[in-house]
Amino acid sequence: MRDAAPQTIYLSDYTPYPWTVESVELHFALDPHATRVRSTIRFAPNPVYVEDPDAPPSTMFLHGENLKLISAQINGDPVRAEVTSEGLTTDVPEGAFTWEAEVEIDPAGNTALEGLYMSNGMYCTQCEAEGFRKITYYPDRPDVMSVFTVTIEGPHPVLLSNGNPLIASKHSAKWYDPWPKPAYLFALVAGDLVAHSDRFTTRSGRVVDLNLYVREGDEGKCAFGMQALKDSMKWDEDVYGREYDLELFNIVAVDDFNMGAMENKGLNIFNSSAVLASQATSTDSNFERIEAIIAHEYFHNWTGNRITCRDWFQLCLKEGLTVFRDSQFTADMRGEAVKRISDVIDLRARQFPEDQGPLAHPVRPESFQEINNFYTATIYEKGAEVIRMLKTLVGDQAYSDAVTLYFDRHDGDAATIEDWLKVFEDTTGRDLTQFKRWYSQAGTPRLKVEEDWAEGALTLTFTQSLAATSATPAPQPQVIPLAVGLIGPDGAEVAETRVLEMTETSQSFKFDGLSERPVASILRGFSAPVVLEQPLTDAQRAHLLAHDTDPFNRWEAGETMARNTLLAMILEGTRPDPAYLRGLHAVVTDGTLDPAFRAMILSLPRPSDLATALHDAGHVPEPDIIHAALETLRDAIARELCDVLPELYEDNLVTEPYAPDAIQSGKRALANSALSLLSRSDDGKLAREQYDAADNMTQQLAALACLIRAGRGEAAIKAFEEQWKNDRLVMDKWFGLQVNEADPEDAHEVAANLTKHPDFNWKNPNRFRAVFSSLAMHHAGFHHASGAGYKLLADWLIKLDPVNPQTTARMCSAFQTWKRYDRSRQELMRAQVDRILATPDLSRDTTEMLTRISNG
Ligand code: ARG
Ligand code: ZN
Repeated sequence: MRDAAPQTIYLSDYTPYPWTVESVELHFALDPHATRVRSTIRFAPNPVYVEDPDAPPSTMFLHGENLKLISAQINGDPVRAEVTSEGLTTDVPEGAFTWEAEVEIDPAGNTALEGLYMSNGMYCTQCEAEGFRKITYYPDRPDVMSVFTVTIEGPHPVLLSNGNPLIASKHSAKWYDPWPKPAYLFALVAGDLVAHSDRFTTRSGRVVDLNLYVREGDEGKCAFGMQALKDSMKWDEDVYGREYDLELFNIVAVDDFNMGAMENKGLNIFNSSAVLASQATSTDSNFERIEAIIAHEYFHNWTGNRITCRDWFQLCLKEGLTVFRDSQFTADMRGEAVKRISDVIDLRARQFPEDQGPLAHPVRPESFQEINNFYTATIYEKGAEVIRMLKTLVGDQAYSDAVTLYFDRHDGDAATIEDWLKVFEDTTGRDLTQFKRWYSQAGTPRLKVEEDWAEGALTLTFTQSLAATSATPAPQPQVIPLAVGLIGPDGAEVAETRVLEMTETSQSFKFDGLSERPVASILRGFSAPVVLEQPLTDAQRAHLLAHDTDPFNRWEAGETMARNTLLAMILEGTRPDPAYLRGLHAVVTDGTLDPAFRAMILSLPRPSDLATALHDAGHVPEPDIIHAALETLRDAIARELCDVLPELYEDNLVTEPYAPDAIQSGKRALANSALSLLSRSDDGKLAREQYDAADNMTQQLAALACLIRAGRGEAAIKAFEEQWKNDRLVMDKWFGLQVNEADPEDAHEVAANLTKHPDFNWKNPNRFRAVFSSLAMHHAGFHHASGAGYKLLADWLIKLDPVNPQTTARMCSAFQTWKRYDRSRQELMRAQVDRILATPDLSRDTTEMLTRISNG
């Protein structure tokens, strides 16, 4: 069915729903093309609804899409309903009443993977944000919460829904979820699945059964995810005082899924790539990501489910907070410094371009057309940064007190950002009016620092600015927590970290009683998501790289030196900065430093980060030149480190049995960085040895990447395919890696050829993304001067849109930076954007994304 004309929804239009839902009973008779859903819903007037006393609501609207209405009754009498593509309207009696309906739906024909759909013969659901309306008629909005009883009939051995099981017989199961929830947390799974089971005893002594349901054959990939779940349950008790609240916690792995995972009450559904793991098939980064996603979804049980969002504008209330919580968990499990650095790398790579381009929106948007387009890096990652800042400003104890008050005060509520900030105001007595601008203003603030040194006093003057955009036409100064420390000329810290609170456009802070001029280490731990402009000399940066006691800023000093030398190479044709190379040598060989940290210092800025930096400085980025500069710098690093690389490699090869823990992963990361540099001049000899000897995917895949880059990959690519052709998750890596590592000249051709591979199952989001996200992220390859990369992506987005609008719309962000590039590339990109927009019956999702990109 064609989408209705796009409608814009505004936060300011919020009104409560006129009814509450006291109970929901659902009955599913499963059938691939004709599933019958019967619903019995008890409605009562909502006391909170301020109605017009002269006109109590006499008609009711229920959402419903792609449903075949079989019958509908109110209090047992058939009703006449006016049905549109978005729902139905019907007359209702005064007071409480019971709605009963039967609808028919087509799960096997549901390729959009929203609502009830099929994946490899199993039934599963994805309802967030607005998928429940594709299952039955319902007030599908998060502030309508109810208890659900669900009966499932089907010939499958495993029949699951939310909550606790009531009755299970051969071909039917009945579930009851005692916790009132919005429809977006509903879930159903039916299939021929096997369970990996375990138990967790909560701190108050309740025993919870844990199951991880997977397809037969995947049993060997469950143990790690199960351990991560138990670790998460324990951590949330220890750190946030949150206990689990059902007899059962189920996780199901699904192959066709639009995102990472979903926190449905008591029945989390996961993209199989976000939960299945084994030594032979998963990399260390996969393990870390899986641990974080399991924690994220589990933590939603309190921040999302017990306390949900009043409306979708409040999405960051649950997502920003839950991302912040999972980052704290990962920091505790694996080390704070490395986690912080990788989060900032990710923020700069994904959120900064969004915030500084046509898709910019506030952490709490004020309008949208398609909510699925707002599951963004801004809502999630910047949303988490905002909570981190709040914690930095109020301190750890007040943060903990305020969050406890939030749980006490709002348990069972559909809450707002105002509710969230109020618990902080009530706990600390602070006025957070200005802080709230972090939720309402779009864009990344820039922060300039000037230094003045006189008579033993260092004065730092900060100036903040935020570009006016259509999203934020009149920006106001924000509260910026500035964590600052001082490093003396001998390398010792002369002032420990202090948090300065900036509230004005321009503000000075003085450090006195200093005997010699120190180097200021500003924005320690990346204390605010801003772009810092600190005019340090190379010598001062080298000093921070060598001595900063704040690990984030130590890394940042190296990163900035790398960026500066690359920019000079690109703009002025200079040679790599010897001071940077020497500094790198010293850090990389410093055995007192964590190998994971050293590996991060060795990883250079991404080409897209350099494009951003060039654009910021008023230049037009040229992808080929950026690529060439990075290659030249890598050669220079390989030469500079040639005396130490073999040893670095050998020393960090793990000899103990494989474990995906932080220590081993860090060593493998460093060894693989060394391998990558060594492979630049040995024709892939060492990589070949590592490939042949590898007993884990981390080493196998890294070696394969080196072989491809060395132009020696052909045989290994074949061997890898032969070895892994029956493992879909490993084959996703195989598809992706060939594009990632392709020469910029042929990346689009490599991608195009891969789409002809018999296993290129393009309707599977993981496989589609393996090829096309890799292409979009291959900076010089995607931006090939011919426009072939743009055209290939557009061809496939046009093909995917009618099948899966959500995944199509997400991938449109590849075009969001079009304005940065030269005239010719701009025109080539615009032409593809326009061509997609001109496609008949384009989805609302894709239309909204591309319209914003092209107007912005
Ligand atoms: N709530 C889920 C999570 O954060 C993601 C749901 C994404 N939904 C969507 N329509 N994109 O884990
Ligand atoms: Zn989430």
